[in-house]
Amino acid sequence: MLRLQAPLTDSYTLASPDELASRITAAKLTLGDRVLILGHHYQRDEVIRWADKIGDSFKLAKFAADNHQATDIVFCGVHFMAESADVLTGDHQRVILPDLNAGCSMADMADIDQVEEAWAEIAAVTAIDRVVPITYMNSAAALKAFVGRHGGAVCTSSNARAVLTWALDRGDKVLFFPDQHLGRNTGFDMGFGESDMRVWNPRLDCGGLEDREVKDSTLLLWKGHCSVHQRFRPEHVATARAEHPGVEVIVHPECAHDVVEVADRVGSTERIQEWVADAPPGAVIAVGTEIHMVQRLAREHADKTVYSLDPLICPCATMFRVDAPHLAWVLEELVAGRVVNQIVVDADDAEWARVALQRMLDIT
Ligand code: 13P
Ligand code: SF4
Repeated sequence: MLRLQAPLTDSYTLASPDELASRITAAKLTLGDRVLILGHHYQRDEVIRWADKIGDSFKLAKFAADNHQATDIVFCGVHFMAESADVLTGDHQRVILPDLNAGCSMADMADIDQVEEAWAEIAAVTAIDRVVPITYMNSAAALKAFVGRHGGAVCTSSNARAVLTWALDRGDKVLFFPDQHLGRNTGFDMGFGESDMRVWNPRLDCGGLEDREVKDSTLLLWKGHCSVHQRFRPEHVATARAEHPGVEVIVHPECAHDVVEVADRVGSTERIQEWVADAPPGAVIAVGTEIHMVQRLAREHADKTVYSLDPLICPCATMFRVDAPHLAWVLEELVAGRVVNQIVVDADDAEWARVALQRMLDIT
């Protein structure tokens, strides 16, 4: 989705890293507790160093929901995370995304029209009141509102199993969007087999499925993926094991199932961070997730060998858009009494998205 971010002035783009650092320090000091800076693990070092709280998307949503003091929450992450924070915070709080172009290509793989259409097509084939829609956190607020309205919930990579278990206690089938890989990996983890899961291709009539396939499947998995995580292949794991006998391979559940199958552990960014921190000195760990996080883990744990499973750099281009100049800009505008880049979810979507997010928080 194209969102327009106004270019920054020279005062930001030409400022040295040191100058930006002292300007951010000064702005933070002036703003005090009025501002809360949240940072996702994939953010650059020049940004994450200023975060008051760091986490995976679940933890950051909780930080936003639990903070009632800050009037301005600067979300150093991507658009769907900032939307969720807006939904979960009070009316007296504003959520700011430093660069409006920080979206998520996976979230853009499902839009509300496609989801409504899929829902109608599924309803024509099977009892729709037995189908529970679940959306991954990586989706627009309108999709979270859709699942809220239809008895479903949001999940993140850290609680997908708990949320899917909850859903299947309430119905016979789940429509899961937009990440087929998280859905499939969780389905296998729960003991489902290949034939219980079908991919729903929103570009094809009835998802490209026969009526019988829709009726027979337990998990209908939206044909979406993360362009960063789909790069990891089982061959990378084989190479890691050949080059470093004893290596521990840790991957994110957005990776394809054939990679997850041969990895040692699979978990959210927060879990990955914990596992690396808990590994003994001397451990060799190959990590399959975004490169900025992997490089930071390598620096923070110099007593261990931590490296990217994919030897080619694998950045998230949209997370990368948030940088020190944009952070300095939004903070200095706040100091000047101006709010820029506020993310506002419309009231109706916000009401139902809150229901879906709250169900997730209650389940986990
Ligand atoms: P986490 O919830 O694990 O932080 O994942 C978010 C994400 O976008 C991974 O690509
Ligand atoms: Fe989206 Fe993938 Fe980037 Fe995560 S890493 S924000 S899923 S594009």
